[in-house]
Amino acid sequence: MASTEDSVNAVNRAFSKQSLNYDSIDQENQVLQDMRQQVYHHVSDFLKVESRILELNAGTGIDALHYVTQGHNVFATDLSDGMISQIEKKIIKHHFQDRFICQQLSYDKLDQLKGQKFDYVFSNFGGLNCIDDLSKVTMNLPAILNTGAFITWVIMPPISLWELLWVFKGYGKKAFRRLYKNGVTAHLEGEYFKTYYHSLAQIKNAFGYKFKFIKSEGLCALSPPPANGDFPVRNPRVYQSLRILDSFVRSRFPFNRWADHIIVTFQLSHNH
Ligand SMILES: C[S@@+](CC[C@H](N)C(=O)[O-])C[C@H]1O[C@@H](n2cnc3c(N)ncnc32)[C@H](O)[C@@H]1O
Repeated sequence: MASTEDSVNAVNRAFSKQSLNYDSIDQENQVLQDMRQQVYHHVSDFLKVESRILELNAGTGIDALHYVTQGHNVFATDLSDGMISQIEKKIIKHHFQDRFICQQLSYDKLDQLKGQKFDYVFSNFGGLNCIDDLSKVTMNLPAILNTGAFITWVIMPPISLWELLWVFKGYGKKAFRRLYKNGVTAHLEGEYFKTYYHSLAQIKNAFGYKFKFIKSEGLCALSPPPANGDFPVRNPRVYQSLRILDSFVRSRFPFNRWADHIIVTFQLSHNH
């Protein structure tokens, strides 16, 4: 069995390799672009002007750059060497050294940020699916947050209707992989590491009584997930119709928890 250290090293290697062409893959995938816009729309309901944002698993810093451009102050963190060096390039290229900084840090080591205070904690596109237990992250949040701070995380849940459709193509194992209790081995860039799917109930549990649950919405509940990135090109009208349907159902049960990803927002209670 692989040790935790082996697994962390495999995650670092996989995402470091992927960091080299991550931005072009992102830009070329219409589904990913639409998902990011939906995430930004969700966050805009809670993000106050000139906030200090802590970003977890920031990748190459696409979202960090978006929020810095909007006037916020972003502290971007990621585990991977390659991702961090892509963020550093963006900081230098866009001359945002005063409001955009980054540090290589695993999100289960947030105790290392004690003494700092943030207004918002953001994590996008399933970075938090690389940890088995989200309370290893949430346990360190109260100490580094200002009162009333918001947290928005985008996480892959155990049920995605699009993935369940694989069963009709004869891929039962793939269709139900998210339901495996002890995680699933992911294969990325020739590296193998464990990933874990978190239900809304498990996420709420990890936040516990110090946080108030605010909202959850599905991303690609009925419309195709990013793995079907060419769907919008092949079936533009169907894609648009499914996205419109999504916009009606994504905040309602069960589509606010059954989707490719879910966007969840919590707030640190005032009397924590
Ligand atoms: C799918 S990418 C998402 C990147 C970015 N949030 C985005 O929206 O493009 C997942 C990221 O999670 C990072 N990651 C995985 N495990 C991590 C950990 N324990 N601590 C911090 N980052 C981690 C990876 O290095 C990778 O950059």
